[in-house]
Amino acid sequence: MPEDPSRPEFWNTRYEKCRTPWDAGAVPPALLRYLETHPGRGESVLLPGCGSGYEFEAFANAGYRVTAVDFSAPAVARARDRLPVEWSEHVIEGDFFSYDFPRAPFDLIYERTFLCALPPDLWPKIVQRTAELLVPGGILAGIYFFGEKEDGPPFGLAPGEDAQLFAANFVTVANAPIPATDSLPMFAGKERWQERRRREDA
Ligand SMILES: C[S@@+](CC[C@H](N)C(=O)[O-])C[C@H]1O[C@@H](n2cnc3c(N)ncnc32)[C@H](O)[C@@H]1O
Repeated sequence: MPEDPSRPEFWNTRYEKCRTPWDAGAVPPALLRYLETHPGRGESVLLPGCGSGYEFEAFANAGYRVTAVDFSAPAVARARDRLPVEWSEHVIEGDFFSYDFPRAPFDLIYERTFLCALPPDLWPKIVQRTAELLVPGGILAGIYFFGEKEDGPPFGLAPGEDAQLFAANFVTVANAPIPATDSLPMFAGKERWQERRRREDA
């Protein structure tokens, strides 16, 4: 049976064997730029599929109340190990689709290599769940991979596919290419920074 990226076991093996080519080892420059212009004042943010979760400190130091979630135990251990205990307790081992988040609904959801990690038939479910977890008018921000779908993950968005996918629940408020020099080689020239506002009636 082929491996299934919608199951934690798929990711557990990779973290345990340190086969994590998506792991940037740092906070993406695009997020640092966003936080410079969008400092928090106690707003809540969720990081779905956080992996090593480098972005946790970046958001917390910028003034946000951060919750991170990943369903892979070794990923959660990686993230928790780096953080002080008052932050690490907000790194949750759980399933994004079903976990009952005490801090929901969130003001902001930030993602990198989460949508593209999961099979495209799950993307409408990700969009729906993201909308449910945000306050009306809340922001979904992140880095999205555009490319092929074959042999994923990563599964790339096709041009225009993102507009269709998010249209019912979100309005796009920012959409810009990321300089190739800011990306890992596997994503270089194929990533975009995007921000979307949840529709009031979504
Ligand atoms: C490609 S990795 C990206 C990790 C991190 N966002 C980064 O940029 O390094 C995808 C992550 O999503 C997690 N994941 C996939 N499906 C999930 C789900 N339903 N609930 C929680 N985490 C999930 C995996 O365990 C994995 O850590």
